[in-house]
Amino acid sequence: MNQNLYFLVYVSYSARELNDAAMEQLLHVARHYNKSNDISGLLLHYNDRFIQVLEGPKESVQKLYAKIQKDKRHHSPTVVFEGPIQSRIFKNWSMGYEKVNEKNDLISEDITLLQQLFDGDHSSHPIVRIMSRFYEKNINIDG
Ligand SMILES: Cc1cc2nc3c(=O)[nH]c(=O)nc-3n(C[C@H](O)[C@H](O)[C@H](O)COP(=O)(O)O)c2cc1C
Repeated sequence: MNQNLYFLVYVSYSARELNDAAMEQLLHVARHYNKSNDISGLLLHYNDRFIQVLEGPKESVQKLYAKIQKDKRHHSPTVVFEGPIQSRIFKNWSMGYEKVNEKNDLISEDITLLQQLFDGDHSSHPIVRIMSRFYEKNINIDG
């Protein structure tokens, strides 16, 4: 097991002036940095929202997220999940990127799940689903 592997997922709002050319430039620099720092992941752009997953050594992920938080090309970054992991999911991608729309890559259920994350609705998270089923079953007992 890799003791030090970590992941972080955040959502943010893209800046209006971030066009396709500027995005290409951002990704070019990001992929170079990520390769040099053993970071893998995926960035999705859906309407004016970003969701990005970063994977890598804990210090590298946290150092990169600190930089990303200060970036004026997006705003209001909010972490939705983070923690230690045993292995990577996106190991071949220094930073995958896709501009998502309903027609291409994601099934409608996944768009709905993304929207829930963007809206700060935690009910779709698997662990919250388990716990909310427990809550519904035991709702009459004092917590
Ligand atoms: C949505 C978004 C995702 C980004 N993802 C990465 C990334 O994966 N890797 C990276 O090196 N920079 C990424 N950046 C750029 C960083 O925010 C920052 O510009 C870069 O790390 C250089 O930071 P520095 O000038 O403080 O060294 C991203 C920026 C935005 C807006």
